[in-house]
Amino acid sequence: MMMGDESYAGARSWEHLEKVVKDLTGMPFILPTHQGRAAERILYGILGGMGKVFISNTHFDTTRANIEVTGATAIDILYDDALDSAADLPFKGNINLEKLVELIDINGSENIAAVIITVTNNSAGGQPVSMENVLAVRKICDTSQIPLVIDGCRVAENAYFIKHRSKEYANKSCKSIAQEMLHLGDAFVMSGKKDGMVNMGGLLTIKDESLATKAINQLIITEGFTSYGGLSGRDMEALAIGLVEVFDEDYLHYRIRSTTYLGEKLREKGIPVVWPIGGHAVYIDAKKMYHNIPVNEFPGQALVCDLYIKGGIRCCEIGSLMFGKYDELGDLIPAANELEKEILKQNLIKLSLKIMENPIPENSVKYLTDNKIATVCFVDENHKPYCINCFYAFDTQNYCLIMKSSKGTHHENMMNDSAAVSGTILPETIDTIQLKGMQFTGQLMSQEAIENLHLKSRYLKKFPMSLAIKGYIWAVKLEFLKHTDNTFGFGNKTVWSFRK
Ligand SMILES: Cc1ncc(COP(=O)(O)O)c(C=O)c1O
Repeated sequence: MMMGDESYAGARSWEHLEKVVKDLTGMPFILPTHQGRAAERILYGILGGMGKVFISNTHFDTTRANIEVTGATAIDILYDDALDSAADLPFKGNINLEKLVELIDINGSENIAAVIITVTNNSAGGQPVSMENVLAVRKICDTSQIPLVIDGCRVAENAYFIKHRSKEYANKSCKSIAQEMLHLGDAFVMSGKKDGMVNMGGLLTIKDESLATKAINQLIITEGFTSYGGLSGRDMEALAIGLVEVFDEDYLHYRIRSTTYLGEKLREKGIPVVWPIGGHAVYIDAKKMYHNIPVNEFPGQALVCDLYIKGGIRCCEIGSLMFGKYDELGDLIPAANELEKEILKQNLIKLSLKIMENPIPENSVKYLTDNKIATVCFVDENHKPYCINCFYAFDTQNYCLIMKSSKGTHHENMMNDSAAVSGTILPETIDTIQLKGMQFTGQLMSQEAIENLHLKSRYLKKFPMSLAIKGYIWAVKLEFLKHTDNTFGFGNKTVWSFRK
């Protein structure tokens, strides 16, 4: 890197970078750019335009923006399973092949500007794409004569997942897997800041000469000459070295295991993370976590703010704040044409390698799990309190108490979503010497959250006999606990608060 050649044209550092990238992609035309989005602007500026359609597993935000700014449409197509943050599948980044064929049919192949496969799929949980999927897309693109672009910001990471999740690739090197994948594309765009492991730099590589000529013209107008594209010699040298070093299998293992480790720890503590954990970030399903915050109040952004305020942790919302749009009345509308996808995106939040840890202490979890009767106090609209006793099951993952009541009770009228409640839990037998008890406050959960979190089955697991009794499930999301346990010394108290 210290040997960066800063000559304007024909710099050694450029030749070094060009050689490395040709070897990796197998493409003849290599264009350096200052960032990934600059490569995107050049390519999609040429391919895009009014009436054109781009189809992707998921367009990254700068990708979508560079497409939409030309007047073209960007459509994301994932499989439904990939939209379930808890589904444990190896390649949730795969593009939906059936939908791809259908969209080509509907729009006409001449209007499809390109199919873009993002590896790994950043905006949908950093999930990998299988080689099988890219091969199938290649075939579809060949039949319909549509260019295939690979956004390979994290192609090394994706190769690692293929090696470890596809038997037939177990004995191949990550570099050869990445090469095999990139050779399937007609063009490759990359932010060097990711798997290029540099502070600055991007790449656009192209197979077809006439497309490359148009791109080179654009490059010269806005980025710089073809042998530096806005980068200093030092930057190019660093990118050439980064693109080799990133395929060090020990490095990739270390990087992906560290991310997984964080994700596993969060999951053990009941945080609804997108599963399996992706390569470069942990994604939290913010809609599940903040189920009481409606989509138009941006639960993902609320979590971003909470993490920063409480823990100084900087992370990024990938949801309606990022991708949502507004209609002429100012109401939030889904960004694209699949509500599930938008719901999923709304749920996602990307977390850096730190986390605020705030579990309920183990002795209190045990107490909540071992006991089964709670007194819950509601307040009606005239602020009049009213108490009931009921059986409860404690959900250790979502920190909520699950109850069942018959229809037509007095307290049913007080059960508004998000209403505040308080209560106590006492053991079935009272030992006055070793006194134990718990006070809690919380919020009633919506029926949607109860369904999404499968709380009914958790309740039934604890009280199978309740199947015989008619009624409905309701639940309290715990926010505060004060747990007294004299077995640990007189007046011993454990206090826990959701908002520490
Ligand atoms: C998948 C993907 N594509 C494109 C980009 C844009 O790259 P850059 O930030 O270098 O402009 C990014 C950046 O995070 C990305 O993750």
